[in-house]
Amino acid sequence: MRYSMGIAALAAVVVAAPTETVQDSHPIKARAACASAVTLTPGSNPFSSRTLHANSAYASEISTAMASVTDASITAAGAAVAKVGTFLWLDTIARVPLAATMLAETPCTDILGLVVYDLPGRDCNAKASNGELATGQLAKYQSSYIDPIVAAIKAAPNVAVALIIEPDSLPNLVTNANVSACAAAASDYKAGVAYALKQLNLPNVAMYIDAGHGGWLGWDANLQPGADMLSSVWKTAGSPKQVFGISTNVAGWNAWSASPGEFAGTSDAKYNKCQDEKRYVDAISPLIKAGGMPAHAIVDTGRNAVQGLRAEWGDWCNVIGAGFGVRPTATTGDSLVDAFVWVKPGGESDGTSDSGANRYDSFCGKADAFKPAPQAGTWNEAYFEALIKNAVPSF
Ligand code: BGC
Repeated sequence: MRYSMGIAALAAVVVAAPTETVQDSHPIKARAACASAVTLTPGSNPFSSRTLHANSAYASEISTAMASVTDASITAAGAAVAKVGTFLWLDTIARVPLAATMLAETPCTDILGLVVYDLPGRDCNAKASNGELATGQLAKYQSSYIDPIVAAIKAAPNVAVALIIEPDSLPNLVTNANVSACAAAASDYKAGVAYALKQLNLPNVAMYIDAGHGGWLGWDANLQPGADMLSSVWKTAGSPKQVFGISTNVAGWNAWSASPGEFAGTSDAKYNKCQDEKRYVDAISPLIKAGGMPAHAIVDTGRNAVQGLRAEWGDWCNVIGAGFGVRPTATTGDSLVDAFVWVKPGGESDGTSDSGANRYDSFCGKADAFKPAPQAGTWNEAYFEALIKNAVPSF
């Protein structure tokens, strides 16, 4: 309900956009679409000559929120955040039509970032982001969710697209196979991801399969099984060449590079050499590549400006004190990393803090989790303002 109302409002905004000017009076029509089909060549960096698209869905979410803010420094910062390239999450079937709208607004200078996130039995080891499809609904995932995304992208061959495939799903199969919901969902996850990779293997698309983060698959015992899981699902999909590699730190909090690592002082640190995302990518990428799969990476820096906030590395929900991090860029200083990107739209909640609510997860009730927080994916104004206040670089 919330989402369908949001989509209707967004559609109205977007339809009006071409005849209007954006806030800095830069005419939108000057940012034209590509004149011919885009090819993202496997092995190249699709971000090196393109800007991650600052999509109007996130911009309109921010501007709606700013309408009730009176502090001019916050509204100015909010407008600046809206201009930062950020991925759009297609987290329900109802959101899929937004893909066509976003494709239509993406100029040739940009690459549109979309997150594919609606597997049956989604978020099997947590409760906050359980999805609309139940385990067993693989056919519906394929025909009602993936196929329409494929059709939208096929209808927009002149647009460059980066896709993050199903955050947390394969990592959950590596480390949480003993959790009954994950065991039950495993075959749908593998088949669903393989289907997505196969069908979305289009020339204008670069796909990155989610690989969790250094505090998850970076443990000595998890690196090789993690790499094997990803490369084996990629092979099941027919080794699609538009898979460029992996995404890491999606909606996460880890530093790109920090010495010593944030959790280097803990008693079990000796079992994890991937104390930051750089060390994680540098460790897992060769293992994935050995399995035949391309293994460049994109890393979410959207909310990782501040370290030392989490009581435990695994704490993932609305971490108190977090700030917007490094802006999207293809200048990463690491030849394995195509780009730092913003994936989690800052201001959207990770999960509700209301212990009586549907989808309440106890991680969102921990001492280091911001409260009150609404349901995952919905706007949390106070948290958004904190991300601005703690941003590095600042807004
Ligand atoms: C939520 C999604 C949301 C995404 C981005 C996830 O945690 O489950 O509904 O689209 O975050 O905010």
